[in-house]
Amino acid sequence: ALDSDFIASARDRGIHLPGMQTNIDEWYSAMDVFVLASHREGFPRAAMEAAAMGLPVIATDIRGCREVVEPGYNGLLVPVNNSKALAGAINELAASPQLREQMGKASRAKALRDFDERQIVHIVISAQLTALRETGRYDDLPTPEPPEVVMREALPADAAIIARLHADSIGTGFLSSLGPRFLRHLYASMISYPDSKVIVAADAYGPVGFVSGVKDVGRFYKHFAATKGFAAGLVALPRLVRPSALRKFWETATYDAEHQETGAELLSMSVASDYRRRGLGAALATRLLDELSAAGIDRVKVVVGSENAGARSLYQSVGFEDKDTIEVHRGEQSVVMVADRSSHFGVDTG
Ligand SMILES: CC(C)(COP(=O)(O)OP(=O)(O)OC[C@H]1O[C@@H](n2cnc3c(N)ncnc32)[C@H](O)[C@@H]1OP(=O)(O)O)[C@@H](O)C(=O)NCCC(=O)NCCS
Repeated sequence: ALDSDFIASARDRGIHLPGMQTNIDEWYSAMDVFVLASHREGFPRAAMEAAAMGLPVIATDIRGCREVVEPGYNGLLVPVNNSKALAGAINELAASPQLREQMGKASRAKALRDFDERQIVHIVISAQLTALRETGRYDDLPTPEPPEVVMREALPADAAIIARLHADSIGTGFLSSLGPRFLRHLYASMISYPDSKVIVAADAYGPVGFVSGVKDVGRFYKHFAATKGFAAGLVALPRLVRPSALRKFWETATYDAEHQETGAELLSMSVASDYRRRGLGAALATRLLDELSAAGIDRVKVVVGSENAGARSLYQSVGFEDKDTIEVHRGEQSVVMVADRSSHFGVDTG
């Protein structure tokens, strides 16, 4: 597209126009600075390649180039159509071998971090697998990298999978009766509420198990109603207005006051079926009790269906004891269990 007079005058000024080249790595190796003065770009591959080859990059301040160049870190950005600014940037780097070396190293680091194909493919596949887990799939996903399941605090992004774990495996109970969309609001609220704890056992795709607890269940429900009440109420309304659901809510909400029981409660826990009987449930419940205890709360209750032998023996194994029987879960009997750690430390030796 360049006319022959222009090419001739460029050559006279020492500019090389090598034409089509395929050995581009050798060309990048010969460069001190990579300059891309485009008016418009998608996501410039040449600039990414130059960064991967450890070159400082000077580019125009446009979409795409901004993804490759962090100004002052691995190169410089100049306004479009501004030859003075472009020449200024080139001169600045030409004058300083030290700056070129520093920015070149930063370019290489950025390329490895942000442009490595393997990284990108890994991120895209992980995001899709996380989305699959949100639909309730755990076992038939490829082994994550790293494959370990670790305990950590839940993040806002975990709310959907936690709600799914709850809806899939806790069939009874007041919360389950409200449905998965409501649960998603509830867990999002709990994750961000300072007086509650949600801990997950998670691999690279997200949680495979969780436990939730609050320092004061009455206060938490009030907070939830005040902040998410409208949105959550709308999705739960058809279920909430059922008299049986209202009765359950009332019984749950008034239990503590009536029985002068602790407000701290392990509200829910679940481990995906393929991950059960490996100690995850016990580790989650223990960590919740440890964290509540560290926050000064030594007495914690849990309400569990009396038929749920697995959960009852798990709770027992981490220190809960049967205290009372109530009727909350769809007319079924539930057991109120209490873990009281204060008694272990309350011995008066004086
Ligand atoms: C209850 C639940 C969370 C247990 O999770 P888990 O990771 O399998 O539990 P662990 O492996 O840590 O089990 C610890 C101990 O609890 C007891 N236990 C757990 N599940 C049990 C079961 N199904 N039957 C009998 N005992 C069981 C055992 O003593 C076990 O120790 P062991 O494996 O050495 O014998 C899990 O079964 C689940 O998600 N169930 C459905 C949801 C639910 O009922 N939640 C509780 C109501 S809110």
